[in-house]
Amino acid sequence: MRAVRVHDFGGPENLVLEEIPRPEPGPGEVLVENYAVGVLPVEWKIRQGLFKNYMPVKLPYLPGSAIAGIVAGVGPGVSDFEVGQAVFGRANKGAYAEYATALAENLAPKPEAVGFDEAATISGSATPAWVALFDNGRLEAGQRVLIHAAAGGVGLFAVQFARLKGATVLATAGPDNLAFVRSLGVEQVVDYTAGPFEEKIGPVDLVIDSVGGDTLDRSFQLVRPGGTLVSLLSPPDQARAAALGIRATDNRVEQPYPSRRLLGTIAELMAEGKVQTHIGPVFPLAQAAQAHALSQRGHGRGRIILHLAG
Ligand SMILES: NC(=O)c1ccc[n+]([C@@H]2O[C@H](COP(=O)([O-])OP(=O)(O)OC[C@H]3O[C@@H](n4cnc5c(N)ncnc54)[C@H](OP(=O)(O)O)[C@@H]3O)[C@@H](O)[C@H]2O)c1
Repeated sequence: MRAVRVHDFGGPENLVLEEIPRPEPGPGEVLVENYAVGVLPVEWKIRQGLFKNYMPVKLPYLPGSAIAGIVAGVGPGVSDFEVGQAVFGRANKGAYAEYATALAENLAPKPEAVGFDEAATISGSATPAWVALFDNGRLEAGQRVLIHAAAGGVGLFAVQFARLKGATVLATAGPDNLAFVRSLGVEQVVDYTAGPFEEKIGPVDLVIDSVGGDTLDRSFQLVRPGGTLVSLLSPPDQARAAALGIRATDNRVEQPYPSRRLLGTIAELMAEGKVQTHIGPVFPLAQAAQAHALSQRGHGRGRIILHLAG
């Protein structure tokens, strides 16, 4: 099969298109013919060798995890999927290829009303948004939540899930994305390039931060006592949180992640038109390097997709 692999850590040019054997699904695994693969920021970080300790990979490796496609085979012990079925979810051994394996528990049937490209924006984008808001952030109806990077692959889902829950949503975005974020129904969107956001936003019950660094640092002061700060990048300073009387956590997940139930819940919301995804730039598999170069700029709207078929 055609696949894009990394033989050495480094720049986007290290993503090499080649022929490798098609994987066989092992026990509990499903073989998926990929129609669309989401390009997640974590993938350029791994490619650059930034996550050698945190998420070690053995060279050469196959990047990617967020898939949507058609079941092409099932391994021993898998009885809940059949060949030809449209599915989406998280691959377990890489995804930038014509075929990928996934644990059956990390896949869900794709609703007819959700396209393959759309379905590939769920794992790694909508799923961490959900976990950050509801599992780690414990968001409740009527609360005020600040979502940073609200036009990003994670942020745009977080905004919509929070609104569905009945929360008041405040957001940050760059100048090119303000109108888009407004269209998602936020109460207030602040241009993070036009001065300190913390001077324009009042106290909130919850902050979801997928920017990190200085943005995480300046977000502590916005959380009202008793509130919560969830960081998608690094574990927040616990001493500082304790001094402010707030809860601060990284975005922990429980296994299996993403569960079929969570994938299904989100896909159903999309099928019913209650939540809309946004497809960013779309590239063929052979242009994975261009997709990574764009992803690592850290700006833009929605999820970048590698489109293979369908
Ligand atoms: N731990 C987890 O569970 C988890 C899961 C998924 C992702 N992540 C991490 O979360 C981060 C975001 O992921 P993503 O997939 O949403 O990225 P993305 O799709 O590349 O979006 C990035 C967004 O960040 C915005 N942005 C850049 N600088 C900003 C700033 N200073 N303040 C506010 N917004 C800013 C950009 O907006 P403009 O274009 O308007 O500048 C862009 O829309 C990545 O680092 C990723 O690795 C963590």
